[in-house]
Amino acid sequence: MTDYAEPAWAEPVWDGEDFPPPPEDDWAPPEDPYFASAAPFDAGRPAAAQAGYAAPPPAQARPASAKFASAAEALHTVFGYDSFRGEQAAIIDQVSAGGDAVVLMPTGGGKSLCYQIPALLREGTGIVVSPLIALMQDQVDALNAVGVRAAYLNSTQDPGTRAAVERAYLGGDLDLLYIAPERLGTEQAKQFLARGHIALFAIDEAHCVSQWGHDFRPDYLALGELAERWPDVPRIALTATATEATHKEITSRLHLERAEHFVSSFDRPNIQYRIVEKNEVRKQLLDFIRTEHAGDAGIVYALSRATTEKTAAFLQANGLNALPYHAGLDAGVRARTQSRFLREDGVIVVATIAFGMGIDKPDVRFVAHIDLPKSVEGYYQETGRAGRDGEASTAWLAYGLQDVVQQRRMIDQSPGDIAHRRRMSAHLDAMLALCETVECRRVNLLSYFGQPSRPCGNCDTCLAPPASWDGTVPAQKLLSTVVRLRRERNQSFGAGQIIDILRGKQTPRTTQHQHETLATWGIGGDLGDQQWRGVVRQLLAQGLVASTGDYGTLAMTEAGGEVLSGARTVSLRHEPERTASRSTRSSKQTAALADLSPADVELFEALRAWRGATAKELEVPAYIVFGDATLRAVAAAKPRSLAELDGISGIGAKKLESYGDALVTVVTAFG
Ligand SMILES: Nc1ncnc2c1ncn2[C@@H]1O[C@H](COP(=O)(O)OP(=O)(O)OP(=O)(O)O)[C@@H](O)[C@H]1O
Ligand SMILES: [Mg+2]
Ligand SMILES: [Zn+2]
Repeated sequence: MTDYAEPAWAEPVWDGEDFPPPPEDDWAPPEDPYFASAAPFDAGRPAAAQAGYAAPPPAQARPASAKFASAAEALHTVFGYDSFRGEQAAIIDQVSAGGDAVVLMPTGGGKSLCYQIPALLREGTGIVVSPLIALMQDQVDALNAVGVRAAYLNSTQDPGTRAAVERAYLGGDLDLLYIAPERLGTEQAKQFLARGHIALFAIDEAHCVSQWGHDFRPDYLALGELAERWPDVPRIALTATATEATHKEITSRLHLERAEHFVSSFDRPNIQYRIVEKNEVRKQLLDFIRTEHAGDAGIVYALSRATTEKTAAFLQANGLNALPYHAGLDAGVRARTQSRFLREDGVIVVATIAFGMGIDKPDVRFVAHIDLPKSVEGYYQETGRAGRDGEASTAWLAYGLQDVVQQRRMIDQSPGDIAHRRRMSAHLDAMLALCETVECRRVNLLSYFGQPSRPCGNCDTCLAPPASWDGTVPAQKLLSTVVRLRRERNQSFGAGQIIDILRGKQTPRTTQHQHETLATWGIGGDLGDQQWRGVVRQLLAQGLVASTGDYGTLAMTEAGGEVLSGARTVSLRHEPERTASRSTRSSKQTAALADLSPADVELFEALRAWRGATAKELEVPAYIVFGDATLRAVAAAKPRSLAELDGISGIGAKKLESYGDALVTVVTAFG
């Protein structure tokens, strides 16, 4: 299997997938929705909103009436949960009472309930602004499955369906209406909304308004106007991106000056963070998946489209169920891939950052990065897609010298102004600091979000603390070589040639340039090639050398000069041995099924099989029927009547009605 290996420098340079593809939304409300086609609001949806659409709607718009007396009642009856998580209750109180809120909560923390429940408690329809057109269908399906009257408006619908949704809104038959930000920016859409009754505005993925952040969408800027136009309608902005800078930008750009702020802990204790040195990255990735996550669903992130395709093909050739995803693929292909990822078990998507935002798949077991992410924010949000169900999961990143060289070059060549380049540089430096730290990764991550914490015991540096060593002398040898080449020969070279010189390794290129006559020839024979690459990478990360020009040639920085003169020392991280990482968990089964006896595990599998068949029949992702946690609770409790099912987490009134008998049948048939 020699084709594992790939030349370390042969990957195509990044192809600029800076932002996810723009949403393809051209929905616009008709001039007069009553004249639009009167096709029933169907599209196979079980929406209660379909009722009564044969007749023309009332001339006067009606508000959707409030459904529940209290938040706790809605939580229990609709969603089947017994208690609120973290600050959910306080947030819901604030918004239900008409106040604004800014909510920072990690991925999978439970932000959706924070606007869904207030929308059920207040009169009128909750308008949800979401950039995720491709996911609106699933979001609405999930709500309909628990009996909430939800719908969306976007370009993927035929005019008849749209017209029906519009009438449902004006007729007061919708609790929640999802809409894309670029639509809400238009005057036409605002006039349309103004004709109905709005319970609240929820601005999801609100970090998209931030130019500092990693996911800026110009359409979000227009959302600031909602404050002026609807001063009495409460607004809630939600994001899983939590830097101080993003937080400030969300508040000011969305005019949330009077909002109450809710900042949760960003820790995701069930995710194990690991960063390894990159050498043969595809082989490393394959080993990682095979030894720790065989059969699991996962996401692999890469920077370039070409890399996603090659890596997916490589994983496929090795028997894994992997699919590529990037913005250059046809929209139909992307939609199919996303839907397979959500619906089938154990699919791996190899993607650029175009994939993943808002994907509510609870059982993603690993997120791997095979290129260095461009910011800590992006990295944290991407890794946060693992383990939303709270079960043990892994965030694995492979990173090497070439990543640093490539990203510095990308920043140098980026078309933006100086301020933009500075921002990108600051993002990269923070990412490098995370990669090179000898301390707990989680402490580093959380402190980046302004949250102090203690060493976690569940990251690579906690599990196997790396030693640091005094790298001043090797750094001086390297810097001296760089300086001599420049001064004595007026030459500059990339890391490969410099390392060959230090190690006294004769190549056609060293002979051609007579580099064996340099005073530093062979003075670095005490370190191996790989170790030297680690040294160069860390010196780059610490800003002691810089990589410049199209070829990434090395130059000494001012700080590097202090090292060379002896005024400054250099501490380096020991590179761990090049062995495949082994699982720190004895078996992945133990984590997922910890609390079940062997007999219960069989029942759990039977319930899963029933869920799979049901989801297929309804054409929805399995988790919309029930999550693993709920099925596990059913397997443990073995309810033999509807009454015994009531109270199991995740089973609300509607699901009890839809699936209760079927669950009891599966349990009873099991003996
Ligand atoms: N109080 C609760 N009790 C039990 N489960 C909950 C509770 N609140 C939310 N959940 C579940 O947690 C999961 C994640 O919730 P949600 O999709 O709202 O996360 P999020 O914060 O919006 O994440 P993201 O940043 O990825 O959008 C969902 O499956 C949801 O049903
Ligand atoms: Mg969300
Ligand atoms: Zn740790």
